Amino acid sequence: MPAFAASAPGKIILFGEHAVVYGQPAIAVPVTQVKARATVMPNVRGTPGEVAIKALDIGLDEVLDKLPEDDPIRAAVAGLMAILNISTIPACSIKITSTIPVASGLGSGAAVSVALIRALAGFLGRPLADETVSKLAFEVEKIHHGTPSGIDNSVVTYAVPVFFIKAQPLHTIEIREPFTLVIGDTGVSSPTRGTVNDVRLHWQADPARYERMFAEIGRITKNARRAIKRGNITQLGVLMDENQTLLREMGVSSPELDRLVASAKSAGAWGAKLSGGGRGGNMIALTSQENAAVVSEALRHAGAVNTILTQVRMPGSCED
Ligand code: PMV
Repeated sequence: MPAFAASAPGKIILFGEHAVVYGQPAIAVPVTQVKARATVMPNVRGTPGEVAIKALDIGLDEVLDKLPEDDPIRAAVAGLMAILNISTIPACSIKITSTIPVASGLGSGAAVSVALIRALAGFLGRPLADETVSKLAFEVEKIHHGTPSGIDNSVVTYAVPVFFIKAQPLHTIEIREPFTLVIGDTGVSSPTRGTVNDVRLHWQADPARYERMFAEIGRITKNARRAIKRGNITQLGVLMDENQTLLREMGVSSPELDRLVASAKSAGAWGAKLSGGGRGGNMIALTSQENAAVVSEALRHAGAVNTILTQVRMPGSCED
């Protein structure tokens, strides 16, 4: 059996995080500047079922069976074996690398799952349809997130901009004019499970207030889809600011995120907001291409530990 490798990009949520868990739409796009990669190599001297996992970025060098049953890597392999209806896999070594920061809203967990599932399925000679890969990655996301909406595994699997509503067929978004985002990392790790739980507790305590905010975010997200389709990019910035105001009200922003958002705006960004679970992780700023370096510099000055420039465009369209 020859070696087999696969990769998957990171992602960011442009609009609708948290509200998407409650049935509202969200918009997410792939971030191809960062990615997770899995390589499965045969181990001709090993016995069947002997699977070595090497994810050295996260300090993991272990035999698969020794990982806890709820470990996401073990769960992804077990899920794949169940779908393929096989009880043992040939001895192999799985190397996982990723340039996607962990627990920062860039979809690292989903990207590792998707790359791993694809690489192992390919190695076994049983490649899977995207829909199956995404479904399986969704099951693994439940370990990371508890109650994920499914947006991360969808955008990472299909690697296209998506308008996503939980449990509904995926819609890709038509992008009339490419636009530039600067992603700023607070450096604060913030697992999504925690913020999703907190929002649930607040919603249970005051359902009317929270449902009003979710519905308002849903309205903003639908308007954003329209603005993207029409190429009305400055309007998109206004909508990002409105979404950020609601996310702050929901209690998922943080002083670090607020500082980065304010600095991006002062540097001329058309709009800025947190992206993903919040309380840390990454924020995004929408800017003209010419001003992107200035916004990036302002973010670093305001404490961003890293910035990534990305162009959002239709997949397959060429660079300017
Ligand atoms: O933190 P991220 O980027 O994995 O995004 C989480 C998005 C939430 O809406 C907060 C949760 C979800 O499952 O959609």
